[in-house]
Amino acid sequence: MTFMMKYICLIFCFFALGYMSVEAQAKTALINGSSFTDNEGKVINAHGGGFLKVGNYYYWIGENRKQGVFVSCYRSKDLMNWEFRGDLLTRQSHPELDSANIERPKVIYNSKTKQFVMWMHYEYGRDYSYARAAIATSGDIEKPFTFVKSFRPFGNMSRDCTLYKDDDGSAYFFSSARENYDMMLYKLTDDYTDVKTQIATLWPGGHREAPALVKRGKYYFLMTSGCTGWAPNQAMYAFSESISGPWSELKNIANSTTFDSQSTFILPLVGNKTTSYLYVGDRWDGKQYFKSGYIFLPLAFENDSTMTLSWRDTISINVKTGKMK
Ligand code: DGJ
Repeated sequence: MTFMMKYICLIFCFFALGYMSVEAQAKTALINGSSFTDNEGKVINAHGGGFLKVGNYYYWIGENRKQGVFVSCYRSKDLMNWEFRGDLLTRQSHPELDSANIERPKVIYNSKTKQFVMWMHYEYGRDYSYARAAIATSGDIEKPFTFVKSFRPFGNMSRDCTLYKDDDGSAYFFSSARENYDMMLYKLTDDYTDVKTQIATLWPGGHREAPALVKRGKYYFLMTSGCTGWAPNQAMYAFSESISGPWSELKNIANSTTFDSQSTFILPLVGNKTTSYLYVGDRWDGKQYFKSGYIFLPLAFENDSTMTLSWRDTISINVKTGKMK
């Protein structure tokens, strides 16, 4: 090897090692509004997503419309450093998915059937006229899900939606119906693969979408957005002592654009010092959809029934203590 070749080799190794160490560096904070990246430096495709904890990992499952992929799965031990674990549903998973559009997938675990159950908004074709819910299941959170069916719960249209598993194991599905005028609430069957009862029509004519539910103390809090397509608007929330209601009036939260985001999930974080509530929102790019960013912000509570959300440029999460700053 000539002196020159040795010199070039040395420079190459120096840069390669430098690059690898940057890649391996763990994140200690997230920049709100940006496209978060995973531990390989790739953009996280998990929009309209939901979270659940399985063992030591938090799982983030959401929309990925790049290259015909629908629902992707990431995991993290600290909510800041995410590892891609695979695609749970793709266009190839089922004939009903070959031309479908899937939004807002949410997953809960059924301890009786030992199945992870995913509910989502299902559209077929180019517009939003199908307005259906769809269900898929898997015995392993990281393995491909089996598509079960798409349908309209009790014949109602079903668009933006969320899923909630209560402390007693009962599960509920919230979804925007009647051209998004009404927010419907359904109780699920014991195996979570169908609707059992139609419990309530929340704020009839209220035009709410992007539901996200959390329970804190004696109250359930339901956060929703208005309906302005991909453009952000004023988020509102309501509270109730019982999931079936009566629910309070809707109150504004955050600013008039919800800090340029739309709600998708509220994740309770139980630490050894405190319990925090993480607001997760999408900052949509309706044209280059996969470039949409994410917003992680801590919700604050002025009293038992008053929830607030303030902006911060970055967030640092300590899953051990439960603190966020
Ligand atoms: C707002 C919804 O919340 C999104 O999930 C998506 O359906 C867009 N509308 C489509 O315009």
